[in-house]
Amino acid sequence: MAANKKRETFSSGLTVFFATLGSAVGLGNIWKFPYLTGQNGGGAFLLVYFFCILFVGLPVMLSEFYIGRKTRKNAVGALEQLKPGTPWKNIGIMGVGASCLIMFFYSSVAGWVYFYLFKALLGDFANVTMETAKAQFGSVIMGPLSPILWQFIVLAVVTAILAMGVKQGIEKITKTLMPLLFVLIIICDIRALTLPGAGEGIKFLFQVDFGKLSAAAILAALGLAFFKLSLGMGTMMTYSSYFTEDNNMIKTAVKVAFSDTLISMLAGLAIFPTVFSFGMEPTAGPGLLFMTIPLVFSQMPFGTILLAAFFFLTAIAATTAMLSLVEVPVAYLSEEKGMSRKSAAVATSCVMFAVGILATLSVDKASVLGNITFFGLGFFDLFDYISSNILLPMGGLLIALLLGYSVKQEDVVNELSNHGQLKIAGLVKGYFFLIRYVTPILLVIVFLSSIGIIKF
Ligand code: TRP
Repeated sequence: MAANKKRETFSSGLTVFFATLGSAVGLGNIWKFPYLTGQNGGGAFLLVYFFCILFVGLPVMLSEFYIGRKTRKNAVGALEQLKPGTPWKNIGIMGVGASCLIMFFYSSVAGWVYFYLFKALLGDFANVTMETAKAQFGSVIMGPLSPILWQFIVLAVVTAILAMGVKQGIEKITKTLMPLLFVLIIICDIRALTLPGAGEGIKFLFQVDFGKLSAAAILAALGLAFFKLSLGMGTMMTYSSYFTEDNNMIKTAVKVAFSDTLISMLAGLAIFPTVFSFGMEPTAGPGLLFMTIPLVFSQMPFGTILLAAFFFLTAIAATTAMLSLVEVPVAYLSEEKGMSRKSAAVATSCVMFAVGILATLSVDKASVLGNITFFGLGFFDLFDYISSNILLPMGGLLIALLLGYSVKQEDVVNELSNHGQLKIAGLVKGYFFLIRYVTPILLVIVFLSSIGIIKF
């Protein structure tokens, strides 16, 4: 999009909601949320996660919405316009870096999803058992060539869509396929919840045992909240720069956070009953989704078709989330550095593919590069840890400080109320209280405790 052309916006309130939800909903709900909840002990982790969504995620989301719609620019340009000649624009630069780090491993996992869709269409999961489900996942991630090929396909798809700049396309895809994904997860839930021994899974998910909660788990819940709601790196700034003027952004933020959390919960309700019913380990890690879902569908009529539909919709969800991730560097390069959208998309994806291969080749200890570690983490986990647990919360903290202390409150009130049209005085007061005192303090406490400076 050339800077002097009229900037596109989403076409209505409904498409604003679905496009934003399309960014939030992705592998985070279906893949990451269940496996982190499994690794960190279930109920207590879940409770901390809800708390983070409410007191950290929502206020930061609203702040990003303000910055984006007020300036109608890419993340870096937006901050530069809001606070000209100050270092605040570095939040945007950091965001461009975080986008790449996330994409290095996200494109790898999305590749597994595409591959699973392909295998489901071939009927590879007929008569699957717990052992074969595990073995199949192992062969998919080990490759070494096939997961790289699928990662390449994923990035090619994302690049092609972004280069076309088809906001219309994104709107249509998210508006029709998001509700379908929702329905399919519910079907999955019904089957999983009626498996023998499903009760154990529900207990795991909802029974709160604070004894299982470590400082590392709290940091993971916080990082997941940012990752889930696409916060802390400019995605929501970039998306809200396409919002309509009359959108009630407080409502949008609440609806997106609520729907996103609902979808994660529904994914958890499909996965944990299955894990316990088949006697698997909830701590299985990144393979959890891939080892359980084929088992759920193998137990039901039309299982093969439904399984393929499930991976198809997951692939779509992952793809719309990636569009929003890669849109951050693409909007930056095309609006600030004078590149065409097409070359920006191609250049960004090339970098993501080149480094992303390292993630793909280090998923497991037994992978080709699995024995290269930094602080005990392989490339895959390292990219994930640095982005989710450090860069996103750090970006969130800076955004909270910017909105809480460095922007004129009346400007924010004016924008959030659509220039006085919405009666939201009470809500805005609550928002300022959170963004000034609660959000930054919580973020600092979690940081300090995770590096061991404060102990509980
Ligand atoms: N929220 C998406 C998911 O859960 C991933 C995502 C998209 C993201 N854009 C982001 C994560 C920006 C962090 C920042 O799958």
